[in-house]
Amino acid sequence: MFNAPDASPAGRVSTASLDSLQREILDLKRSLNAVILAHNYQVPEIQDVADYVGDSLGLARHAARTSADVIVFCGVHFMAETAKILNPGRTVLLPDKDAGCSLEESCPGPKLKALQDSNPKFWTIAYINCSAEVKALADCICTSGNAVKIVNAAPKDRDILFVPDENLGGWVMEQTGRPMTLWKGDCYVHVEWTHAAIMRIRQRHPDAPVVAHPECPKAVRMLADEVCSTEKMVTWCRATASKDIIIATEAGMLHRLKKECPDKNFIPAPTERCACNECRFMKMNTLEKVRDCMLHRTPEIQLPEDISRRARVSIERMLEISGRD
Ligand code: 13P
Ligand code: SF4
Repeated sequence: MFNAPDASPAGRVSTASLDSLQREILDLKRSLNAVILAHNYQVPEIQDVADYVGDSLGLARHAARTSADVIVFCGVHFMAETAKILNPGRTVLLPDKDAGCSLEESCPGPKLKALQDSNPKFWTIAYINCSAEVKALADCICTSGNAVKIVNAAPKDRDILFVPDENLGGWVMEQTGRPMTLWKGDCYVHVEWTHAAIMRIRQRHPDAPVVAHPECPKAVRMLADEVCSTEKMVTWCRATASKDIIIATEAGMLHRLKKECPDKNFIPAPTERCACNECRFMKMNTLEKVRDCMLHRTPEIQLPEDISRRARVSIERMLEISGRD
């Protein structure tokens, strides 16, 4: 059960150096006129120094309206790219340039283009977990927080091609009743949860509802009381009367949930083969790397103008359909 003091930074940095690192980062933030945006899966000490912590949708919305000169993006590469696409004139820094995503890797632009060319009626919806090149090929972007709305708004006379997450796509088909062609990609973290593992934890905590991310396989989603984006998990857990809640998503989420709902007990759903509910890409960012990227203004996200311009159209379309706030 996760009710220990936050997944502590112990073993990474001592409390004294943690304090001084965080102070250094806040000083750099002021001198650079920077904003620090962090995804819910970032390590606790990064979440605690960020100006905003949220899901991909909230982060994109914040990036779209920032007036800061520098965006320090504590998340993975595709998220920082999205911030750059929305802010071509601003500096976007990613603490570790190798922080990728298995979904992004599963869908190379040229392979998507070949599939699109096979059916002129395709209307491509790309989950935001993809490269800028794929975003440039898409008609509209979605996140786990607005995918149902985006699919419902798609032109009725077109065939939807949904890339790259087949689990999110399958869930959206169930919610909307709209058939879609699904790309065969998945999140290597969320596919580790199985029906049997969730059944076992449910037996140990029969009164605890299960909250799962839509990147989980169908066999897991069907056991969940709520399937939603990481940000909606916060709202759902706040509102439920249940004190114990089983969470099937990446471990970083537990820090955010514990902070937002201090009166609840969050039980990380065990995976089948291992305790591998950490995204190795999300965990590449550390507080030292946050400080260093601000000190040296690198790694910086750079994108070809043509790709950036076309990707912006599909991201802006998403923001128009799902709302900017
Ligand atoms: P959210 O947009 O729900 O935060 O999900 C992002 C993600 O990468 C999930 O693995
Ligand atoms: Fe990508 Fe999965 Fe990591 Fe999310 S948790 S960034 S989908 S690999």
